[in-house]
Amino acid sequence: MGKLSNKVAVITGGNSGIGFATARLFANEGAKVLIVGRREGAVNEAVAALGPQATGLAGDVADLATHERVAAYVAERFGQADIYVANAGGIRIQPSSAVTATDYDAQFLANTRGIFFGVQKMAPLLRDGGAILLTSSIASRKVLDGHTVYAGSKAAIEAFARNWVLEFKDRRIRVNVLSPGPTDTPIIGKLGVAPEAQSQVEEQAARMIPFGRMGKAEELAQAALFLCSAEGQFITGVNLAVDGGITLT
Ligand SMILES: NC(=O)c1ccc[n+]([C@@H]2O[C@H](COP(=O)([O-])OP(=O)(O)OC[C@H]3O[C@@H](n4cnc5c(N)ncnc54)[C@H](OP(=O)(O)O)[C@@H]3O)[C@@H](O)[C@H]2O)c1
Repeated sequence: MGKLSNKVAVITGGNSGIGFATARLFANEGAKVLIVGRREGAVNEAVAALGPQATGLAGDVADLATHERVAAYVAERFGQADIYVANAGGIRIQPSSAVTATDYDAQFLANTRGIFFGVQKMAPLLRDGGAILLTSSIASRKVLDGHTVYAGSKAAIEAFARNWVLEFKDRRIRVNVLSPGPTDTPIIGKLGVAPEAQSQVEEQAARMIPFGRMGKAEELAQAALFLCSAEGQFITGVNLAVDGGITLT
């Protein structure tokens, strides 16, 4: 018996990085996983790699129609779901002086609006006793160069989580937050820094982390499993940093 046998888990951003590692671990623990990502080709490739436990849907989490499609699919195929991992998100590192309205909107649309409406549409389909996990970032609490807009977009979802804990308590749905520190995923190539500067960014991040290295997507997935499985059944409203200690520096 896996830790998630007979469970249905929906994971946004499940085609890449932390979301993909989480989908793989959850599937290995017996869950049926539905991954949602923006790029259809990448979603299809991920589903093929995850195997028969997985299905996928492509769509932008900023678009409410995506969440309506996901909810309709879950209702038709599974009836209900047990776990909703709202993990999709993106970042652009830049000083506030350089932020355009487009940059600002892109981060708040994916990281904040995408989470809010994902939970709004999925919560009615979650079984009583289910789990919601939101992926934030240690950047919401720790000041990091060029992270101002991203930090704001992630801080908002931590406030959402605190409110949802009480909104969903009568259905015993637990709501927790996972805050990765710098983690080695494809997001490094999407930061808006020049490709030749990426290894420098990674080395700088590793130097700031007490453990001396970046996190691995699989390490974040293990924490997600703990929070979403029976092992975490009395845990709600926590914001778990998985960061090699960087928050303390
Ligand atoms: N890696 C880190 O150092 C780190 C640190 C702190 C927090 N985080 C957070 O962890 C989460 C996962 O990031 P990751 O590192 O695994 O990065 P990643 O490999 O780039 O994965 C991000 C995922 O989110 C999806 N996504 C982004 N915007 C979307 C949108 N508007 N609609 C639908 N899907 C969207 C991407 O889909 P496509 O690939 O199809 O675009 C991708 O599947 C994010 O919320 C990120 O902010 C990461």
